[in-house]
Amino acid sequence: MENVQNKAVAEADEFTPEQFAELDKWIAQYKGKTGSVIRALNKAQEIFGYLPREVQDRVAKGIGRPLSEVYGIVTFYSFFNVVPKGKHSVCACMGTACYVRGGQQVLDDLKKELGIEVGGTTADREFSLGSVRCMGACALAPVVRVDEDVHRQVTPKKVKELLGKYSNKCAGGDK
Ligand code: FES
Repeated sequence: MENVQNKAVAEADEFTPEQFAELDKWIAQYKGKTGSVIRALNKAQEIFGYLPREVQDRVAKGIGRPLSEVYGIVTFYSFFNVVPKGKHSVCACMGTACYVRGGQQVLDDLKKELGIEVGGTTADREFSLGSVRCMGACALAPVVRVDEDVHRQVTPKKVKELLGKYSNKCAGGDK
């Protein structure tokens, strides 16, 4: 938890005073109202793209709640991100059908190839890595979703090639 927070703090330097001014405007509107912290965090994520500690701190101070409470909310709801999201979202299925057909090895290879853990984003912000328990496509196991595309029967050997297609896409290639 501490590493993620520190990583996120380091990223916060790129934010502008205008972004914080915009957040302060919304905080002033929400303060004292029901759900003020969640509403302010939602707005903050819209403005900054994610919620590093500096931003959480701004929300806590502005709304008048402890930082620990704000952090608790951020980590409880999966739609809040404490690290920036990559251009492409890679999600490996760890449900039973995928797991027994080699899903764990596929996930391990994705981690190795990308150099990040689940929940992380590559330094160039090309890819974020996540996992889910089932995508409802068990007959196609093991399954990896990249953005909106569901890739079936992914083997460890295919992982590199699969990621490469998305890198090429950024340079004008197709998938
Ligand atoms: S277990 Fe992976 S899609 Fe259902």
